Amino acid sequence: MTLPLGGAEPLLKDRIRILLADARERTHWLVESISDHDLERVHSKLMSPLVWDLGHIAAFEDLWISNRSGLAPLRPDLMEVYDAVETPRARRGFVPYLRRGEALDYMDGVRERALALLDAMDLSAEAHRLDARGFVWEMLVQHEHQHNETMLQCIQLAGPEIWSPARRALPSAPADPPRGTALVPAGEFEMGDPGWWFAYDNERPSLLIDLPGFEIDRLPVTNGDYREFVDDGGYARSELWSAEGWAWRSTGHVERPLFWAADGSERRFDRVGDIDPARPVMHVSWFEADAFARWAGKRLPTEAEWEKAAAWDPASGISYRYPWGADWPSLDRANLDQTAFGPAPAGAYPDGASACGALGMAGDAWEWTSGELGGYPGFRAHPYREYSEVFFGAGYKVLRGGSWASRMRVVRNTFRNWDLPQRRQLFAGFRCARDA
Ligand code: AVJ
Ligand code: FE
Repeated sequence: MTLPLGGAEPLLKDRIRILLADARERTHWLVESISDHDLERVHSKLMSPLVWDLGHIAAFEDLWISNRSGLAPLRPDLMEVYDAVETPRARRGFVPYLRRGEALDYMDGVRERALALLDAMDLSAEAHRLDARGFVWEMLVQHEHQHNETMLQCIQLAGPEIWSPARRALPSAPADPPRGTALVPAGEFEMGDPGWWFAYDNERPSLLIDLPGFEIDRLPVTNGDYREFVDDGGYARSELWSAEGWAWRSTGHVERPLFWAADGSERRFDRVGDIDPARPVMHVSWFEADAFARWAGKRLPTEAEWEKAAAWDPASGISYRYPWGADWPSLDRANLDQTAFGPAPAGAYPDGASACGALGMAGDAWEWTSGELGGYPGFRAHPYREYSEVFFGAGYKVLRGGSWASRMRVVRNTFRNWDLPQRRQLFAGFRCARDA
């Protein structure tokens, strides 16, 4: 049943203005200390120039608000430059993208038009599907948040010189972190978006899935765990790797996670320090996660297993939005929101445990699953094919749970991130599972 918003609509518009301003403030914070040169150049062929993301965020907003409302784009000449599909990452440094000052002005110009349209827009439950309850505005906010995380990946890849951010303090390692696995008993659970107000198309429609019992690690794999795999010759033993993974490892002469050095140090942004064995491992590819799991006598969880371990509460039979339940995320339950610049020690958030007893399923590091991105039965592209559908069936592996670099609005048990199995620039680690 849908309830009309009635008199609540003006309040909703105020909330939207606040969310838009908050997202923009964060984007400005991310770039304000970075030099023009570092903002505008290509740091890696995997990533856009940072300033491209600024123009893209604006173009996306102009497309979904002003252009959809019937206005011509503010800058028709830029729509192709900032179209993520027409201009893929590897080409973004070689198209006529706006430089810093122009890009910031473009963002302001687009925002001004959008806010004027918001004033007059019908956001009632009966409005056009994209406008109803502000769906499309929420999409814009989450889109900007997601690009902020991508920009952080680019900043980390760029090297130690480009930014020296202040760090939010993180909780220390628990005295006695839980070890071992949690048992998730066989049975049905609801997977995917149960009809919350906002979800991406690839989280919908929800489905009932009957899974056999399985065990899942209570903690993500730590640097200490991963070090044992390295020291045990994990990178030299082909039998631990998939055929594709072994080829990838061999061609690239990969011997350790990205940003680990042979001397036992690790770089995170501008800081180089000893690798902390208590923290979740990050910057491993799916191939490395898969090989580690085989070495450990386990496997990666399927998407359904991951989501059931995070969401399903056997007492109520409900799948919750967050591992700890229905409450909105907070910094005492998960390391989210971008300002820690790295993961907390594994197990540092006992209040963020899921019903089965798994910790750290939201925030810290994304977790690779064995799943490949595809649509759930009954999938319908909404509101645009290029968000998810164009990536289906192309070998993208799904990651779950969000990272320290994810903003709270983007993180939920049903959210699906994806990348190719060889990619390591994501703030991603993993946990293992096995049949019960
Ligand atoms: C969900 C992170 C894979 O970056 O390609 C940004 C998010 N989609 N703009 C991506 C996204 C459109 C997407 N990921
Ligand atoms: Fe985008």
